Amino acid sequence: MVAQSVAIRTCEERDLDHFGAFGAPSHVDYCREQFGRGREAVTILVAVDDDDLPMGKLHLDFVTRAAHREAVLVAAAVKPELQSRGIGTALMGASEELVCSRGFGGIVLGVEDYNPRARRLYERLGYVAFTSDDFKYVGAPVPNPGVWMRKELECR
Ligand SMILES: CC(C)(COP(=O)(O)OP(=O)(O)OC[C@H]1O[C@@H](n2cnc3c(N)ncnc32)[C@H](O)[C@@H]1OP(=O)(O)O)[C@@H](O)C(=O)NCCC(=O)NCCS
Repeated sequence: MVAQSVAIRTCEERDLDHFGAFGAPSHVDYCREQFGRGREAVTILVAVDDDDLPMGKLHLDFVTRAAHREAVLVAAAVKPELQSRGIGTALMGASEELVCSRGFGGIVLGVEDYNPRARRLYERLGYVAFTSDDFKYVGAPVPNPGVWMRKELECR
Protein backbone atom coordinates (compact mmCIF):
# COMPACT_ATOMS: atom_id res chain seq x y z
CA MET A 1 0.00 0.00 0.00
CA VAL A 2 1.27 3.47 -0.80
CA ALA A 3 0.13 6.61 0.95
CA GLN A 4 -1.49 8.05 -2.18
CA SER A 5 -3.98 5.17 -2.33
CA VAL A 6 -5.34 5.66 1.21
CA ALA A 7 -8.93 6.95 1.26
CA ILE A 8 -9.45 9.59 3.94
CA ARG A 9 -12.68 11.28 4.95
CA THR A 10 -14.31 13.06 7.88
CA CYS A 11 -15.50 10.76 10.66
CA GLU A 12 -19.21 9.92 10.77
CA GLU A 13 -20.99 8.84 13.96
CA ARG A 14 -21.21 5.23 12.71
CA ASP A 15 -17.39 5.06 12.49
CA LEU A 16 -17.10 5.43 16.27
CA ASP A 17 -18.49 1.90 16.68
CA HIS A 18 -15.16 0.71 15.22
CA PHE A 19 -12.86 2.87 17.35
CA GLY A 20 -12.27 0.04 19.84
CA ALA A 21 -9.42 -0.90 17.50
CA PHE A 22 -7.63 2.34 18.46
CA GLY A 23 -7.64 2.12 22.25
CA ALA A 24 -9.32 1.15 25.49
CA PRO A 25 -13.05 1.76 26.09
CA SER A 26 -12.12 4.98 27.92
CA HIS A 27 -10.42 6.20 24.73
CA VAL A 28 -13.53 5.41 22.69
CA ASP A 29 -15.59 7.40 25.23
CA TYR A 30 -13.15 10.30 24.76
CA CYS A 31 -13.52 10.06 20.97
CA ARG A 32 -17.34 10.13 21.24
CA GLU A 33 -17.13 13.17 23.48
CA GLN A 34 -14.80 14.93 21.05
CA PHE A 35 -17.02 13.98 18.09
CA GLY A 36 -19.93 15.52 20.00
CA ARG A 37 -18.21 18.92 20.01
CA GLY A 38 -18.97 19.23 16.30
CA ARG A 39 -16.73 19.46 13.26
CA GLU A 40 -16.15 23.17 13.54
CA ALA A 41 -14.46 22.62 16.90
CA VAL A 42 -12.93 19.17 16.40
CA THR A 43 -12.68 17.34 13.10
CA ILE A 44 -11.85 13.65 13.28
CA LEU A 45 -10.36 12.27 10.07
CA VAL A 46 -10.52 8.54 9.31
CA ALA A 47 -8.52 6.51 6.82
CA VAL A 48 -10.88 3.83 5.53
CA ASP A 49 -10.48 0.46 3.82
CA ASP A 50 -12.29 -0.84 0.74
CA ASP A 51 -15.37 -1.52 2.89
CA ASP A 52 -15.33 2.09 4.13
CA LEU A 53 -14.31 0.95 7.64
CA PRO A 54 -11.74 2.89 9.71
CA MET A 55 -8.10 1.73 9.58
CA GLY A 56 -6.69 4.82 11.26
CA LYS A 57 -7.77 8.19 12.65
CA LEU A 58 -6.68 11.45 14.19
CA HIS A 59 -8.36 14.50 15.71
CA LEU A 60 -7.81 18.15 14.80
CA ASP A 61 -8.82 20.65 17.47
CA PHE A 62 -9.55 24.05 15.94
CA VAL A 63 -10.41 25.77 19.23
CA THR A 64 -7.49 25.49 21.63
CA ARG A 65 -4.99 27.54 19.61
CA ALA A 66 -7.40 29.40 17.34
CA ALA A 67 -5.88 32.71 18.44
CA HIS A 68 -2.61 31.52 16.85
CA ARG A 69 -4.38 30.14 13.75
CA GLU A 70 -2.99 26.72 14.65
CA ALA A 71 -4.83 23.40 14.89
CA VAL A 72 -3.86 20.92 17.61
CA LEU A 73 -3.48 17.37 16.33
CA VAL A 74 -4.19 14.66 18.92
CA ALA A 75 -5.03 10.98 19.31
CA ALA A 76 -3.49 9.71 16.06
CA ALA A 77 -3.78 5.94 15.79
CA VAL A 78 -3.57 3.28 13.11
CA LYS A 79 -4.74 -0.31 13.72
CA PRO A 80 -1.64 -2.16 14.97
CA GLU A 81 -1.70 -4.74 12.18
CA LEU A 82 -1.83 -1.97 9.54
CA GLN A 83 0.96 0.26 10.85
CA SER A 84 4.08 1.08 8.81
CA ARG A 85 2.22 1.12 5.49
CA GLY A 86 1.89 4.85 5.06
CA ILE A 87 -1.59 5.26 6.56
CA GLY A 88 -0.37 7.61 9.30
CA THR A 89 1.56 9.66 6.75
CA ALA A 90 -1.53 9.91 4.55
CA LEU A 91 -3.65 11.06 7.50
CA MET A 92 -1.06 13.72 8.32
CA GLY A 93 -1.10 14.94 4.71
CA ALA A 94 -4.90 15.17 4.70
CA SER A 95 -4.69 17.08 7.99
CA GLU A 96 -2.48 19.71 6.41
CA GLU A 97 -4.94 20.19 3.54
CA LEU A 98 -7.87 20.48 5.93
CA VAL A 99 -6.09 22.92 8.23
CA CYS A 100 -5.14 25.10 5.25
CA SER A 101 -8.70 24.97 3.90
CA ARG A 102 -9.93 26.25 7.26
CA GLY A 103 -7.64 29.27 6.98
CA PHE A 104 -5.19 28.17 9.68
CA GLY A 105 -1.44 28.22 9.07
CA GLY A 106 0.04 25.55 11.33
CA ILE A 107 -0.36 22.34 13.28
CA VAL A 108 0.97 21.59 16.76
CA LEU A 109 1.10 18.19 18.40
CA GLY A 110 2.51 16.57 21.50
CA VAL A 111 4.59 13.43 21.50
CA GLU A 112 5.84 11.55 24.51
CA ASP A 113 9.44 10.44 24.95
CA TYR A 114 8.34 6.80 25.23
CA ASN A 115 7.18 6.98 21.60
CA PRO A 116 10.29 7.64 19.48
CA ARG A 117 8.74 6.00 16.43
CA ALA A 118 5.89 8.50 16.31
CA ARG A 119 8.34 11.33 16.90
CA ARG A 120 10.48 10.12 13.97
CA LEU A 121 7.41 10.14 11.75
CA TYR A 122 6.59 13.73 12.72
CA GLU A 123 10.18 14.85 12.25
CA ARG A 124 10.27 13.26 8.82
CA LEU A 125 7.15 15.25 7.95
CA GLY A 126 8.77 18.53 9.02
CA TYR A 127 7.53 18.99 12.59
CA VAL A 128 9.99 20.73 14.91
CA ALA A 129 10.01 20.44 18.71
CA PHE A 130 9.54 23.80 20.41
CA THR A 131 9.03 23.03 24.12
CA SER A 132 9.09 20.18 26.63
CA ASP A 133 6.14 19.11 28.77
CA ASP A 134 4.97 16.46 31.19
CA PHE A 135 1.92 14.85 29.59
CA LYS A 136 -0.67 13.92 32.20
CA TYR A 137 -3.77 11.85 31.51
CA VAL A 138 -5.52 8.85 33.02
CA GLY A 139 -3.28 5.82 32.64
CA ALA A 140 -0.13 7.78 31.71
CA PRO A 141 3.15 7.01 33.46
CA VAL A 142 4.27 9.57 36.06
CA PRO A 143 6.32 11.46 35.05
CA ASN A 144 5.57 11.33 31.34
CA PRO A 145 7.98 13.70 29.60
CA GLY A 146 7.64 14.68 25.98
CA VAL A 147 7.73 17.56 23.55
CA TRP A 148 5.34 19.79 21.68
CA MET A 149 6.11 20.02 17.96
CA ARG A 150 4.97 22.49 15.34
CA LYS A 151 4.79 22.61 11.57
CA GLU A 152 4.16 25.86 9.80
CA LEU A 153 2.20 25.01 6.68
CA GLU A 154 2.79 26.34 3.23
CA CYS A 155 -0.83 26.74 2.27
CA ARG A 156 -1.51 27.59 -1.35
C1 LIG B 1 2.09 6.72 15.09
C2 LIG B 1 1.13 6.06 14.09
C3 LIG B 1 -0.21 6.81 14.11
C4 LIG B 1 1.76 6.17 12.69
O1 LIG B 1 0.94 5.53 11.75
P1 LIG B 1 1.57 4.54 10.62
O2 LIG B 1 0.46 4.23 9.68
O3 LIG B 1 2.25 3.41 11.29
O4 LIG B 1 2.63 5.53 9.97
P2 LIG B 1 3.38 5.37 8.55
O5 LIG B 1 3.25 3.98 8.06
O6 LIG B 1 2.90 6.44 7.67
O7 LIG B 1 4.86 5.68 8.92
C5 LIG B 1 5.49 4.93 9.96
C6 LIG B 1 6.61 4.10 9.42
O8 LIG B 1 6.27 3.38 8.25
C7 LIG B 1 7.22 3.69 7.20
N1 LIG B 1 6.42 3.71 5.98
C8 LIG B 1 5.69 4.72 5.51
N2 LIG B 1 5.11 4.37 4.34
C9 LIG B 1 5.49 3.10 4.07
C10 LIG B 1 5.21 2.20 3.03
N3 LIG B 1 4.43 2.53 1.95
N4 LIG B 1 5.73 0.95 3.10
C11 LIG B 1 6.51 0.61 4.15
N5 LIG B 1 6.80 1.43 5.16
C12 LIG B 1 6.31 2.67 5.14
C13 LIG B 1 7.78 5.02 7.57
O9 LIG B 1 9.07 5.23 7.05
C14 LIG B 1 7.79 4.93 9.08
O10 LIG B 1 8.93 4.22 9.48
P3 LIG B 1 9.65 4.42 10.91
O11 LIG B 1 8.67 4.03 11.97
O12 LIG B 1 10.80 3.50 10.84
O13 LIG B 1 10.03 5.88 10.98
C15 LIG B 1 0.91 4.56 14.39
O14 LIG B 1 2.13 3.89 14.37
C16 LIG B 1 0.20 4.28 15.71
O15 LIG B 1 -1.02 4.17 15.77
N6 LIG B 1 0.97 4.13 16.80
C17 LIG B 1 0.38 3.85 18.10
C18 LIG B 1 -0.35 5.06 18.67
C19 LIG B 1 0.56 6.28 18.70
O16 LIG B 1 1.71 6.17 19.06
N7 LIG B 1 0.01 7.45 18.29
C20 LIG B 1 0.77 8.68 18.21
C21 LIG B 1 0.70 9.45 19.47
S1 LIG B 1 1.69 10.94 19.36
